[in-house]
Amino acid sequence: MYFGGVDVEELADKYGTPLIVTDENIVRENYRAYVRAFSEFKDEISSVYDVDICYAVKANGSIAILRILAQEGAGADVVSGCELKAAMLAGIPSDKIIFNGNAKTDDELRLAVETGVLLCLDSLDEAEALSEIAHGLQLPSSDQPSSDQPSLPVERERVHVAVRVNPDISVKTHPKIATALKNSKFGIPAADIFNTFRRISLMKLIKLRGIHCHIGSQILDVSVFQEAAEKMLRIASSLQREYDIDFVDIGGGLGIKYSEDDVQPTPHDLADALKAAFRVAKLRRPVKLVLEPGRSIVGNASILLTKVQSVKRTAERNFAAVDAGFNILIRPAMYGAYHEIIPASCMRTDAENNRTDEFEEYTIVGPLCESGDVLGEHRKLPRLKRGEILVIMNVGAYGLSMSSQYNMRPRCAEVLVCNGKTELIRERETFGDLIRHQIIPPRLLKKLHDCSTCMGFND
Ligand SMILES: Cc1ncc(COP(=O)(O)O)c(C=O)c1O
Repeated sequence: MYFGGVDVEELADKYGTPLIVTDENIVRENYRAYVRAFSEFKDEISSVYDVDICYAVKANGSIAILRILAQEGAGADVVSGCELKAAMLAGIPSDKIIFNGNAKTDDELRLAVETGVLLCLDSLDEAEALSEIAHGLQLPSSDQPSSDQPSLPVERERVHVAVRVNPDISVKTHPKIATALKNSKFGIPAADIFNTFRRISLMKLIKLRGIHCHIGSQILDVSVFQEAAEKMLRIASSLQREYDIDFVDIGGGLGIKYSEDDVQPTPHDLADALKAAFRVAKLRRPVKLVLEPGRSIVGNASILLTKVQSVKRTAERNFAAVDAGFNILIRPAMYGAYHEIIPASCMRTDAENNRTDEFEEYTIVGPLCESGDVLGEHRKLPRLKRGEILVIMNVGAYGLSMSSQYNMRPRCAEVLVCNGKTELIRERETFGDLIRHQIIPPRLLKKLHDCSTCMGFND
C-alpha cells in the first residue's frame, strides 16, 4: 500500500511501529476546499463582511501541521495556553486566533490578554476573572517599576471577547461529542445571554465583539448547522440593538467518512446551509463569520501503521493483537468509533505474500491491560500472521492529540509524506521521556539490594 506516494511497509521498516503517517497534500487540499467554498460568501451575503477559517488545534496539534496550515493562511481555535503557544510558534498571527474553553486558568487568561487574541468567554465568572487580570496588567502596582509590568497590547485598549452560547441543538452524533445539548457544560444558555452581556458590558476593559457556538463533532447532516446559525443570528440581531456585535462564530463539527455507510458533507454543503441561515436573518450590521473546523481538515490525512504481535484463535474469536492501543488511538474505545483497518500488503499478489488469501474474522486489539483496548471488531481480513503491518485509516483527527502514555508506552513517531518524500516530524518517545519529570525523594534512594545498574536506563 502507498500513502502520499510512499510504500507504507518501507516506512514501518525504517521508522518502526506504531507510526503515524500524514499526507501534507491532503491537509492542504482539505483547507483549500474550505477557502473555495467560502470565497464568495461575502459577495453573496451582504450581512457578512469577512470569513475566517480558524483550524481547531485540538484535532491535531503537531507543529508541522500547524505550520502547513499557517502557510495556507489559516487562523486557529485554541483551548489551552500551550495550544495558543503552538499556534503562534507555527506562525499563525494572533489576530486570527480565538481562545476557547470552559475552564481557563488565570495564567491562560493573562497569556490571552498579552498576546491580543480574541477570548471566547464561557461564564460570567470567567469574565470577572478576566476583568481583574486586565486591570492588573494595565495598572502597574506601586511597589513594582512599571517597565517590568506586562501591559495590554498597545494597539488595543480593551480585551476583545466573544461569549459562547449554548443554542440547545440536538445533533446526531456520539453523545460525548454533542456539545450544545440543554445540559451541556459549554456556553451560556440562550435565555441568559442578554443578562450576561449586560453584566460584561459594565466591565471597563472588556470589549464585547460577538457570540460563539460549537454544537458537536462528526456531524454528517448539515441541516443542524443551519438550525444553529439561525438561532445564533437571531441572538446576534437582538444583541446588535445595544452592542457592537460584529462577529459570529459557528464553531467546527463537519464530519468525515469513516465507514462505507457515512456520507461525507463538503465545506460547500456547509456554506450553502449557512447562507440559507444568513438570508433569513435580520442583522442590523454586517458581521465576520468564523468557522473552526478540525476533523474535516486533518481527519483523513493520517494513517496509523501498527504491527501484529500475535494472532490467537479461540473458539469464541480470532484475536490479532497489535502494538498500538488506545494509548495512540482512543476513539474506538472512547466513542465506539469505527476506523477501517487494512493489511499493508493488501495490494500485493498472493505469490508475493506467500499466502492464500482466505479471509477470517478478527477482533483487532491493542497491547494495553484493559479489555476495552479494542481497535476494531468483526473485521474480515486475509489470514493474518505475526509481524504483518496493519493500516488504520483516518486517524489524523483526535488521534495523537488524545494519546497517552498508559502502561508506560512511549508515544509513537510521526512522519510527513509528500509526493513520495518522507520527513520525520515527531520522534518516538523513549523511557527517558516517560520518567523525565519524575522525582525520587532522596530519602527513598537508600540502596535496596545490590543492583548498581537498575537506575541507569535512559531510553
Ligand atoms: C470549540 C470547538 N471548536 C471547534 C472544534 C472542532 O470540531 P471538529 O473537529 O468536529 O471540526 C471543537 C471540537 O470539539 C470545539 O470544541
